[in-house]
Amino acid sequence: MGSEIKRDAEDLIKLHGIPPREVYLDSENSGLIFPEALKAMVDCYVSYGYGHPSITHKVGWESYEVLVKSSEVISRALGCNSDEIVYLHSGTEANNLAVLGFAKAHGDSSRRKILVSSIEHLSVIHAAESLAKYGFEVVKIPVDGEGFVDLDALSSLIDSNTLMVSVGIVNHEIGVIQDLRGIVEVVKDRDENIVLHTDAVDALGRVKFNLKDLGVDLASFSSHKVFGPKGAACLYVRDGLNLEPILYGQLSTQRLWPGLENVPAICGFAKAVEVMMNNFSEFNSKMMGFRDMLIDGILNSVDHSILNGPRGGRRVSDNVNISFIYCEGEALTVELSLRGIYVSSGSACTSRILQPSHVLIAIGRRFEEAHGSILMKVTPMHSSDDIKYVLENIPKAVGRVRSISPFKSG
Ligand SMILES: Cc1ncc(COP(=O)(O)O)c(C=O)c1O
Repeated sequence: MGSEIKRDAEDLIKLHGIPPREVYLDSENSGLIFPEALKAMVDCYVSYGYGHPSITHKVGWESYEVLVKSSEVISRALGCNSDEIVYLHSGTEANNLAVLGFAKAHGDSSRRKILVSSIEHLSVIHAAESLAKYGFEVVKIPVDGEGFVDLDALSSLIDSNTLMVSVGIVNHEIGVIQDLRGIVEVVKDRDENIVLHTDAVDALGRVKFNLKDLGVDLASFSSHKVFGPKGAACLYVRDGLNLEPILYGQLSTQRLWPGLENVPAICGFAKAVEVMMNNFSEFNSKMMGFRDMLIDGILNSVDHSILNGPRGGRRVSDNVNISFIYCEGEALTVELSLRGIYVSSGSACTSRILQPSHVLIAIGRRFEEAHGSILMKVTPMHSSDDIKYVLENIPKAVGRVRSISPFKSG
């Protein structure tokens, strides 16, 4: 990181000061951690699981045992076998291995077409697009105004040239829960040899699914999205599916992702999955309550505000994404930050390069609507007082940003 950026951050934090209350609503980008998951990780670092799981001595065997036990917990939650899990360090890496590793293993096939939904995470879209120079064609599957994949359009895009389809279960920005079963049926009915990848990073712990029942071939997950530690993630690779590594190295228990596994983070990941699944109903009904309090409260109190994505049971429990017309999203994140409310704007993952979110554009939002959007994720760790504080402050913050915004009404 450049020293100027570091100095800027130090100055900004000093200038910012400490707000009266702080509500962190940006677990889209980096999550909070469950205390149980933190403890499991720290225990590994200090006593049991800090060694290299491939080495043949007691400390290595202990790490290997932690890895095996973590895989049992995670695979049980996903509905797959523990040897179908490959560990990596982020959801981004999992999506890249799924797309690039599969294409690489089938580089000599006559099938050259990869279908991705137009609202996929950029780690799927950009990985697929990077294959164009090797003769692959990437085609985007359209979605409707709420973000649902158009099944007829999907069916008509499939042909004998199609190698792979990638559609996420839950969209990270607008929270739409796809009819993945329907999508798998359309794809496999047309041609059972087409491989289906799902980015399930935002679905784990929030949507009930079983990978074997769903019938997907590849699925990505990330620890920080289930309130586990950063630095752990996994890719489900269906038994018998051929993938090529995209990284090379030496010591590892796994062929597809070489190098030292982050055993403490994986152990924390497994603990977070366990906590999330053991409290599935309680956590999700709590988050859904907070989500709807925010959506209804904001739409009722702020003029010219629009919800992005569907409502109710077709929307994931934690996601709130609202466009404020005549308001600049980046300015709103700063104004809210001064009030101790931490959210992201536009597309969370592209907010450092001021481009409107490709997801919001795909669902038909105009440029200024996409630009004035903010994304909030509620968690089971929030309280109703946190949500009330946010509801008191959003109308004030939007009002202030609108008063200085170049986007004016009328
Ligand atoms: C749906 C989805 N896929 C992939 C990722 C990337 O995961 P990571 O942050 O672990 O790289 C994210 C992260 O926000 C996500 O929401």
